[in-house]
Order: sequence, then structure tokens, then C-alpha cells
Amino acid sequence: MNAMAFDGRVEKNSGAISRAVLRWYDRHARELPWRVGPKARRDGARPDPYAVWLSEIMLQQTTVATVAPRYAAYLARWPTVKALAAAPLDDVLGEWAGLGYYARARNLHKCAAAVVNDHGGEFPDTEEVLRALPGVGAYTAAAVAAIAFDRRAVVVDGNIERVVARLFAIETPLPAAKAEIKARADAIWPSRRSGDFAQGLMDLGAGVCRPKSPSCLLCPLADHCAAAKAGIAGELPRKAVRKPKPQRRGAVFALTNGRGEMLFERRAEKGLLGGMFGLPGTEWAADLAEEISVSAPASAPWRKAGEARHTFTHFHLTLDVYSAQAPKGFRRNGNQKWIKPADAKLPTVFDKAMRCALGL
Ligand code: ADE
Ligand code: SF4
Repeated sequence: MNAMAFDGRVEKNSGAISRAVLRWYDRHARELPWRVGPKARRDGARPDPYAVWLSEIMLQQTTVATVAPRYAAYLARWPTVKALAAAPLDDVLGEWAGLGYYARARNLHKCAAAVVNDHGGEFPDTEEVLRALPGVGAYTAAAVAAIAFDRRAVVVDGNIERVVARLFAIETPLPAAKAEIKARADAIWPSRRSGDFAQGLMDLGAGVCRPKSPSCLLCPLADHCAAAKAGIAGELPRKAVRKPKPQRRGAVFALTNGRGEMLFERRAEKGLLGGMFGLPGTEWAADLAEEISVSAPASAPWRKAGEARHTFTHFHLTLDVYSAQAPKGFRRNGNQKWIKPADAKLPTVFDKAMRCALGL
């Protein structure tokens, strides 16, 4: 039997469920830049594990639409894991700008080095060995094992979580429901075409079993789906009520020179957006410090250009954006750099602030 047990049993419909998902995927698979589709796979094509790993790291917490251009840029610049391992960290971070969660880019670089140094430049092909690589968590290890190597590995991302919670009408709210969802997914997971099954569930979640308005009438799993039968599909998965995010405030200073450049500053390695370029400014705290000018990079006639807002995982941020021309004799410090705004590779929050300063 292919599927593992749930509560000591194999899900009795597991075969019918996995067949329905795979048949649907054969017809409706999305074409994605990192994907070897079901037809090509049947014709013997296999994905490059490096490309699968790169896409899976990028896709965590980030949408397909945001990832696609960054993924293309990475692969064009560093076509192999060896090339990525040999790249300067700064370039890797710069090319990551806009994707968020910058620790992922540092780990990406570390992981590439580990694959080259400890695995002869070839990605390991089991979940367990993949899991030991830097930045490779349970999700990524399972996704790469399944998608790149067709290993039976139970992959649960946000889309699959939702489909499975509905299929079995799991009422426990997230995140408490995660263990049950994983066990239920395990109980329907096929041993053949594991990677296609994972991607089929992902596509089903993205296109049919959507968060707000699932199209149960078009769904290949409708006959098996407890939530659809109970008329509660759109309510699941339930979520524990979360505390609202606190507000933080700060100020940033956009200094420009006569050559059309703006002054940027490298942030401390540790902490939020560590090692990325940003605008000079204050700390981000519950309240704006009264004397914010001490954080300005120069004494200048600062003019308030506007406000920039951005939401991070744990707080909302409002930045007051000030702009000025660099005064005569201004000298940048070693952490600072004059960069043309069009060439700056910035985290989204600073991109918003820069655009505000430019009146865009
Ligand atoms: N989201 C994360 N990984 C994905 C994949 N391989 N295909 C589609 N969506 C995804
Ligand atoms: Fe989702 Fe509806 Fe399909 Fe159930 S029948 S898996 S709720 S789309």
C-alpha cells in the first residue's frame, strides 16, 4: 500500500484522491518557470535540483508573481550551484532585494557553499540529508525531495494546508491543526509521482480551492471533500485570532547630490534587513524620538517629502521621509554610498521611502 497510516489506518480513499489530483494536474498544471510539467516529465525530462531548490526558497512567504523575475535574474547570473557559491555575498543580497526575509538570501549563499563543499556540487536526494543544509527547513526538504527527485515526501505549504483542511473538514484552528493536517496529507500521499502530486495540490489550492471562494463545482476532489459536503469550505481552515500588530515609527533622510545620486547606508549585519542598503535614519520605535535630526546624515535644510508605510511580520511601520541637497563639503562615511536611485537594490520599505523622497 502506498499511503502511510492516519490514526493507525490508511485513508480508505487515498488511491482515488491521489489519482484525481494527478489526472487534474495532467490537464491543468500551471506553466511556471521552474517547473517541468507533467507532459515533459512523462517524456523523461527531469528538473534541475538547483533550480527547484532556488525556487522553493524564493517562494516561501512570497508570491509566484513577485518571485518569477527574481528567479530568472538569479538563474541567468548564476546558472549553477557552483556559480552561486562562488558569488560575492553582496551580489546575492542585492539580487534578492524586494523579496523580503533577507536571512533567506544569506542562507541561500551558505547552502550553495555547503552543497559544493560537502556534497561535491550535487544536491542530496533525500529529505533527511537535505534538511541538514543551511536554510532548508522541513518544508523545503520535502519539496525538493519530491519535486526534484520524485521521492515520497509529504509537502505541506499554505495551499496544500488549505486543501487538506477542507478535504477532511478539520475544525481545529491553525496553527494547532498543523500536525493533524500533515498526518492527513501523509495518509493520502502516493509513492509514485510524488512531485507531481505535491504540485497538483499546490495548483489546486491556488486556482480552485482558493482561500475565499473555492470553486467546488470545478474541483476534482469534490466527491471526497467533507467541507464541501458540509457547506463550510470557505470557512476552513479556521485560524486562531491573532493579536493586532503594533505600530512603529521612524524617520529617514534622503540626501541627494549634484550627480543625480542619493546617499544610501549599509545596515548592521544583525537585525532586520541586516546587511542590506537603506536610507539613513532613526531607530524604529513605538514613538518617534523628539530630536530626530541627530540621526540625519548631514546638517541641511531638511524638508518633509511625505510618509512611507510598510508592514513587516511583527509590526506596521510609518516612516517620515525627509529630503535635502547635500551641503557643500559633505563627506560620506565608510558605510555610506552614493547610488543612482534607478540602480539601488533596496528592500521594499526603503524603495517606498526613496520613491516618496523623489515625489514618485
Ligand atoms: N509554491 C511553492 N512551490 C511551488 C511550486 N513548486 N509550484 C507552484 N507553487 C509553488
Ligand atoms: Fe476545496 Fe471545494 Fe475542492 Fe473541497 S471540493 S478541495 S473545498 S475546492
